Amino acid sequence: MARVCVWFLCVPAVVAACLVPVFGAAPVKIKEVAPGAELVVEADAKIKALEESLADNAKYTEAKGSTLTRDAGVLAVLAQSILESEDKPTWKGAAADVRDGAIAIWSSKSYEEAKKGLDAVKAAAGGTAAGAKPEAEWNKLTKLGALMKEVNARNGKLRRAVRKLPEKDEEIAQAARDASVLAVLALATHEDTHEVKADADKPLWQSQSKEFGAQMTAAAAGFRAKDLAAAKKGFDAANKACNDCHKKFRDKE
Ligand code: HEC
Repeated sequence: MARVCVWFLCVPAVVAACLVPVFGAAPVKIKEVAPGAELVVEADAKIKALEESLADNAKYTEAKGSTLTRDAGVLAVLAQSILESEDKPTWKGAAADVRDGAIAIWSSKSYEEAKKGLDAVKAAAGGTAAGAKPEAEWNKLTKLGALMKEVNARNGKLRRAVRKLPEKDEEIAQAARDASVLAVLALATHEDTHEVKADADKPLWQSQSKEFGAQMTAAAAGFRAKDLAAAKKGFDAANKACNDCHKKFRDKE
């Protein structure tokens, strides 16, 4: 009897939870997706890459057509993940400013604009928060096409790592971080459903994104444990999700 009552009490809560939209919020707990510390290392690497791309106007012009949107967009996703992480990663306090600076870089129309964005990013990553608001819409952090280029590059590195576990610890740690970055990028694809033409197909897109991300989280855990079989299992399942999603949503004639 008591159990029945409790169950009834839960129903309105469950219904309410379903009705609350997840605007701006990641659909899952970040720390269950990837460790905050790994995301900070990868965010710092992106900041370094962006510094090189913005060293002068000529480099900017070159990067604008290739790596700039990709690097800055990934940095925005990493920053938002760090901000929402239940771990307490370093520079969590200024992650919102890193995110906004990164978005300013990829949406820049001139070298000066991009440089301003980078200055904001560097100040924030150095610990100076400028008061950007924590909330963000995950579907606006980057562009899907640029995100997929990053996904493809990291996935290619992982393909080599699951064939033969790298010898050096730092290389294995890098593979774990690559898989972790892919896992948080999947949070962004989950929210960015603009490629889905029919509303009825959105749940499929989102479940494929979830599967892609969850299997990359599993692959990262496999690398961390130096368990090649576990890493490969996660990688293969994640790649099935890539292919399933492309078949349904990309490879249309
Ligand atoms: C939930 C769906 C989904 C998943 C999962 C997914 N993709 Fe994609 N991918 C797309 C869509 C849609 C596009 C087309 C985007 C565009 O052109 O703007 C795309 C584009 C691409 C591109 C072309 C990018 C370019 O413009 O040059 C590559 C490469 C790619 N994906 C690789 C991957 C790999 C590798 C994985 C898994 C490790 C993956 N994708 C997972 C939906 C997905």
